[in-house]
Amino acid sequence: MEAGNDPSHNPVPEDQISALTEELQRTRKAYDTALERCRNIQAELEAQVEARSSELARANQDLQRQILERRRVESQLQQNQKMRAIGTLAGGIAHDFNNILAAILGYTEMAMMDIDAASPVHRRLSNVLKACDRARDLVQQILTFSRQNDATIRPLAPLPILKETIKLLRAGLPSTIEIESRLPSQLPMVLADPGNLHQVVMNLCTNARDAMIETGGRLTLSADVIELKKHDRRLAPELLPGHYLELTVVDTGVGIAPEFLDRVYDPYFTTQTRKNGAGLGLAVVHGIVHRHGGSIHIDSTLGRGTTVTVRLPVADTEKQQAITGNGQVRGGREHILFVDDEHALAQIGQQLLERLGYTVTSRTSSVEAFEALRSNPDRFDLVITDQTMPNMTGTELSRQIQTLKPELPVILCTGFSETIGSENAMASGIRGFLLKPIALRDLSEAIRQALDRPTC
Ligand SMILES: Nc1ncnc2c1ncn2[C@@H]1O[C@H](COP(=O)(O)OP(=O)(O)OP(=O)(O)O)[C@@H](O)[C@H]1O
Ligand SMILES: [Mg+2]
Repeated sequence: MEAGNDPSHNPVPEDQISALTEELQRTRKAYDTALERCRNIQAELEAQVEARSSELARANQDLQRQILERRRVESQLQQNQKMRAIGTLAGGIAHDFNNILAAILGYTEMAMMDIDAASPVHRRLSNVLKACDRARDLVQQILTFSRQNDATIRPLAPLPILKETIKLLRAGLPSTIEIESRLPSQLPMVLADPGNLHQVVMNLCTNARDAMIETGGRLTLSADVIELKKHDRRLAPELLPGHYLELTVVDTGVGIAPEFLDRVYDPYFTTQTRKNGAGLGLAVVHGIVHRHGGSIHIDSTLGRGTTVTVRLPVADTEKQQAITGNGQVRGGREHILFVDDEHALAQIGQQLLERLGYTVTSRTSSVEAFEALRSNPDRFDLVITDQTMPNMTGTELSRQIQTLKPELPVILCTGFSETIGSENAMASGIRGFLLKPIALRDLSEAIRQALDRPTC
């Protein structure tokens, strides 16, 4: 057989081979493309799984945070209820307790006037006065918790409230935020509502915390007393000259963009992404500060931090103390009508004032006091009255006096637990407040202040 006739030795035609090779290459290419796509799809799926997992992890973290937040709110609510209970209790005993203190204070001061200042008895009695001061502070501290009445402006010691707020804040701050309190050992009384003051400091410090939550930093709360004279009105043009409590909250956080500085007080303006940032904090602070006759100022540098300064007017009694320091007790010759429904207090008031040279008529009923005035309005130069009395309160008495003799000055004595609405006080024409139990120096200064002030 000829080799040419063996079909197994028939060569495959060239064109067929190249067609097959091309086919093979195409298949190979398609396979590579499919493989590549598979790999891409796999990578995409892996990325999606990863994204979803971290989304779930974030949701989980969010949930944990919400649970913690809820617990915090619940415990705050409990704390609130506890404080209200303490407040009710303290409010109940404060009036009586202050009257007891007033008697101790009054008789001690009188005894001290009777003896030589160099005698050991004088020294011991001055220790009694110091103890009275401590007792007064104690009552005040307890009453810091009361805050039952909203927005009632009265003479108030700010230190216990500032300290309490810092304590509350410390508990809620992450360890990356340092808090520094620069509070002096003493601060004058301010005319303010305790709940409002607490809210102002709390809102400002919360903003400072929010501004540093990512980066950490330092929050500084300081307090000081400043005197605004006529010529430095540009510092706070809306304020009248006088003494002010200046509170400053400084943070080293993100700062406020210049274009936002004008808008931060607007209700609902917020840059907070967290759900509970309602944008009301500064609007509330602004409202409170202005209702109290104070001012607020914000200074901020983007990326560096923010300083918020709040100024609140110092209460009248303390303005005098700041001006006169620990000066001499001043007397006078005018005729004072002294009104207190507690017989012992009316007696102490009368005796103390007589020692200062004044002519004093005392009454234990506001109705009788008003009768004494009506029968001879020109007899008296000044009225000093307790607030809480049966039939007619001190503010009501003052209002009646206004209709009878508007230029007659009235000084109102209030206990820690009593609150006088600012509108109420203004409408009643009250010239000064004194906080019971009253120290002789405060009383004598308040009297001179009320009598020497030109009538408007
Ligand atoms: N100390 C600060 N540092 C940086 N930005 C601040 C500071 N204080 C206020 N801001 C800015 O002002 C905005 C308004 O503040 P505001 O306290 O009124 O509302 P909020 O903090 O956003 O919400 P809320 O007080 O209701 O929780 C904030 O969202 C923030 O942009
Ligand atoms: Mg806020």
